[in-house]
Amino acid sequence: MRTVEWDNGVVKMIDQRLLPGVFEIAGFTDYRDVARAIKEMYIRGAPAIGAAAAFGMALAARQSEATDRAALLRDLKAAADVLRQARPTAVNLFWAVDRMLRVASNESLATVDDIRDAILADAQALADEDVAINKRMAAHGAALIRDGDSILHHCNTGALATVDYGTALGVVRMAHEQGKKIHVFVDETRPRLQGARLTAWELQQLGIDFTLIADNAAGHYMRTGQVAICLVGSDRTAANGDVANKIGTYKLAVVAKENGIPFYPVVPTSTVDLNCPTGDHIPIEERGPEEVVGLTRDGMPIAPEGVKVGNPAFDVTPAKYVTGIITENGIAYPPFDVSLRRLVLGEGGR
Ligand code: MRU
Repeated sequence: MRTVEWDNGVVKMIDQRLLPGVFEIAGFTDYRDVARAIKEMYIRGAPAIGAAAAFGMALAARQSEATDRAALLRDLKAAADVLRQARPTAVNLFWAVDRMLRVASNESLATVDDIRDAILADAQALADEDVAINKRMAAHGAALIRDGDSILHHCNTGALATVDYGTALGVVRMAHEQGKKIHVFVDETRPRLQGARLTAWELQQLGIDFTLIADNAAGHYMRTGQVAICLVGSDRTAANGDVANKIGTYKLAVVAKENGIPFYPVVPTSTVDLNCPTGDHIPIEERGPEEVVGLTRDGMPIAPEGVKVGNPAFDVTPAKYVTGIITENGIAYPPFDVSLRRLVLGEGGR
């Protein structure tokens, strides 16, 4: 199944908290539960969060008992506020919710049921578009991958982070499907281990050769010439090409530049926030301490009780460390303030 889908009034999603141990599908009929599932990371990854929020809006439209347009729009705006609060960094969440609100306010929709139907149809279209967009990005990105390349990857950007196929991992997947012999260094991605739990699980199923590494090992593999290219995703990319992505990405990009290794975020245009001039304007989510100190080793806690913990979920990589940004409309190269704008507004790429 897809990572998230609509099934006859139920929003179904793979519960990613349980992978790779247990494959379980969670189903929700209340948009507030969809918001909670995003917050608690049943579903994660910017494009997947966007699709879940769109289906959440479709649920909200069904749940509303409104009998006139104005009342339904009021209920939808309230639902949008709840969904928007689920996670702050991934701009796809806000983009998807706003898109559903725009559909709902189309004055040519005559009845409340027309609005309900239109939101569901557009949420479904958004999910379908996500898969098509990923394949277009993958085609642009795979052209950069040579036979024999070893790719460094952070977090999870695969089918699980999207509706299907993946962004950075979609590029890896397409290069593999093209018959290129490739290898992936998979950062485990502390603290939530999206690399170890999810990316390793996906690559294993795809039959793609990989080595799981501790995040701290990435610099060693780069300095010793074992990495040809770094591919990562993004939760929000600013108009100047600064890239917010999973915590640890910044460190990778700096080390990549120091070692002359190309560093490419793979970013659907829905993740580019042209209203955000630089990365300094991107809100960075701070998550709970239990994600960092909640692990045990041989049944023992990994840190003394009561320690102070910092847990930013994302960091910003300044554009000067970014070689190019792979989008569905082509690859943006510096100066990003010009090239990104052109690709996002659909004027074609190079
Ligand atoms: O906290 P997560 O797991 O939602 O973070 C996910 C990432 O950082 C991904 O790299 C990003 O969303 C792009 S996924 C296609």
